[in-house]
Amino acid sequence: MLNIVLFGPPGAGKGTQASMLVEKYGLNHISTGQVIRDEIRRGTEIGRSVKERIEHGELASDDIVVKLVADFVDQHKLSKGNIYDGFPRTTVQAREFDKTLAGHDEHVDVMLSLEVPETELVKRLLLRGRESGRADDFSIDVIRNRLDIYNAQTAVVADYYRRQGKYSPIDGTGTVDDVFAKLCEVINRFV
Ligand code: AP5
Ligand code: MG
Repeated sequence: MLNIVLFGPPGAGKGTQASMLVEKYGLNHISTGQVIRDEIRRGTEIGRSVKERIEHGELASDDIVVKLVADFVDQHKLSKGNIYDGFPRTTVQAREFDKTLAGHDEHVDVMLSLEVPETELVKRLLLRGRESGRADDFSIDVIRNRLDIYNAQTAVVADYYRRQGKYSPIDGTGTVDDVFAKLCEVINRFV
């Protein structure tokens, strides 16, 4: 089974590219951000416990997301491959994720890291905020907070995979199709 970590800052294009990759390669996909937004929308216990943090651009706690992903892994044992979008986002999550996968005799094959300059990210997110109504795209302050948290807590996760020889940087600028072609070039080495 192919296990792909799709990494990158807020607005890098993870969700956009994940849905195209799912289609092309017949993979399954989890966006932890999307799962959390669904929990909030449904008003579940998890949703209520994280709502305020998410709306301010803060991360949910490691325990919560690690468990959400472990459940997904458990439910997708027979998948051809899975794309993990927006997870892991801390080094603790990356270590726990390795343990989760090892429990199924699996491992991360590659981390595809979409690299986009911050000015472009801010532009993309503000634009989407006007269209999508996503609570954490509403204000420039929340967007900045997400980028700061990414730089402070999440960017280091790339080093974790670099040390394992799995880090693959991809230029995330250019058109959606340009970026997709670059991702496919790397994935084709694994399929
Ligand atoms: P999450 O949902 O993962 O949000 P994010 O990382 O902030 O990323 P986005 O979804 O905003 O961007 P994306 O990279 O998917 O880009 P997209 O394709 O949408 O997380 C939300 C929150 O949940 C987090 O802040 C945190 O609180 C919590 N959370 C999630 N995972 C967690 C975890 N593991 N641990 C703890 N907390 C967690 O594209 C963005 C926009 O750009 C779109 O409008 C798109 O159309 C456009 N676009 C895409 N590609 C291009 C291109 N090539 N050129 C021009 N525009 C483009
Ligand atoms: Mg996304």
